[in-house]
This record gives sequence, structure tokens and C-alpha cells, in this order.
Amino acid sequence: MKIVAVTNIKGGVGKTTTAVNLAFLCAAAGRKTLLWDLDPQGAASYVLRAEADQHASAKKLVSGKRELPELAVPSGYEELDVLPSDFSYRNFDVHLSERKRPAERLLKMSRSLRDVYSTLFLDCPPGISLLSENVLHAADAVVVPLLPTPLSVRMLTQLRDFIVANQWTDLALLPFFSMVDRRKSLHHEVIANLREQFPDILATEVPYSSEIERMTLRRAPLPAYAPGSEFGRIYSALWTEIAARLG
Ligand SMILES: Nc1ncnc2c1ncn2[C@@H]1O[C@H](COP(=O)(O)OP(=O)(O)O)[C@@H](O)[C@H]1O
Ligand SMILES: [Mg+2]
Repeated sequence: MKIVAVTNIKGGVGKTTTAVNLAFLCAAAGRKTLLWDLDPQGAASYVLRAEADQHASAKKLVSGKRELPELAVPSGYEELDVLPSDFSYRNFDVHLSERKRPAERLLKMSRSLRDVYSTLFLDCPPGISLLSENVLHAADAVVVPLLPTPLSVRMLTQLRDFIVANQWTDLALLPFFSMVDRRKSLHHEVIANLREQFPDILATEVPYSSEIERMTLRRAPLPAYAPGSEFGRIYSALWTEIAARLG
């Protein structure tokens, strides 16, 4: 099972939108896929209309009293299940920190999913926390939606240094530009500059568009209802690049 995390220290950069669309595309390609909504705000669960049918507190999950597979619910899309978020996830860090080897807990929890799913997506809350450390430790790839702002350089440098310091040599760092407004000259400049410093940034750029924003109203993955549209094709291209890096 490959684990793909969508993360950024910042909120509102397109993490959830990306996680939902990529998980849908991965499943549509025939891989049994699970999207785990780790954000207590539950935006991914909302978009995919996934209701938890039982309450499973972060505490019980972290302590191993509850197993993840029994909490997964079908999304209504073929091969795609969702692990809905729970409001108790706001205290994830507290429960993780109470365990032995706290940074390795999430990887351990995910082992029970290996027999069922071939890909696990993690939609992460913003911030940098013990939970993020768990996510990076567990993940095979970390997809980072980047706003084209000068501060993204700093964030990406910090993230890269953190990965190197922890010797997570197998972890693929896959940043891409999100919410790009090509009419803004600042965006052009920042993108050119960042691409020079980080040649590994994915080629696909996701533009700023009200069509993409509308996904939250439609409550469905964009490639599910508009696969051949401009933006449907952009998400497909993004997934093709990521899938190639996952091997
Ligand atoms: N490319 C985009 N263009 C315009 N709006 C977007 C785009 N991607 C996401 N949004 C909107 O921006 C808001 C934040 O996106 P979201 O994916 O929830 O970000 P995050 O998970 O990082 O907080 C949502 O209202 C979403 O619909
Ligand atoms: Mg989100």
C-alpha cells in the first residue's frame, strides 16, 4: 500500500480539493483507494458526503482500541472509500504524545489497511505538529500545494530540511503550484524563481478558478462530473505525474 499525504503548513491552499480529486482519479484507475480525512474540520468528508456511521475517537484509534478498516465508509464512487474525520481529531497530538514512539504511531495504525487498500491518501490539517511528523514518517509521497508567494520558498526549504534531518530518504517530496493566477506578474516571477531553486516541483500548475471552487457546492470530485473539462484534465495531468513518481 502506497501512502500519499497532501499537506502544507498553511490552510486554504487547496489541500482538500487536491486530496479529493487525486483520490478519485487513483480509484478510477482501478486501485482500491482510501481517503483518510485527518482534519477535524472535515472538509474532505463533507465534499464526498461521507458520514461516519460510528464515533471513533482519536484516543481510541491511537491506543489501538479501534482499528481503521472498520471505520471506512464507501464514497459512492467505485473503488473509493473514505475514513471520515472526527471532531476528536483536534486532540490528535495529545493522544499521540502519550504513546511510546509517538512519531511512528500513524504508520503503525495504517498497517491494518494494507490488506484492503492499495493506496491511502491523507488529507492533513494545516500546521506543523506531531501529527504532521507522523504523516511524513508514514508517507511514501508528500504532495504540497504551493501558493506562488515568496513565503513558499521558506516553507519548502523548511520541509526539505526536516525530511533530510529525519533521514526519510524514501519519501518523495512532490510540490506543485496551486491557485495560480497567470495574469499576475508576481506569480510568474515567483514561479520561475521557485522552479530554479526546486527543480523537482511538478510541471502541472493548478490555476485559480471559480470552477474549482464550485466543487464544494457540487460536493463531488471535479474529475467525476467534468472529466473532459479544462480543469478535469489538469487534475488528471497532476495525478499522472504523481502516479509516475509513486512507481
Ligand atoms: N484552484 C482553486 N481555485 C479557486 N479556489 C480554490 C482552488 N482550490 C481550492 N479552492 C477553494 O479554496 C478554499 C480552500 O481550499 P481547500 O482545498 O479546502 O484548501 P485547504 O485544504 O488547504 O484548506 C475552498 O473554498 C476551495 O473550494
Ligand atoms: Mg483542508
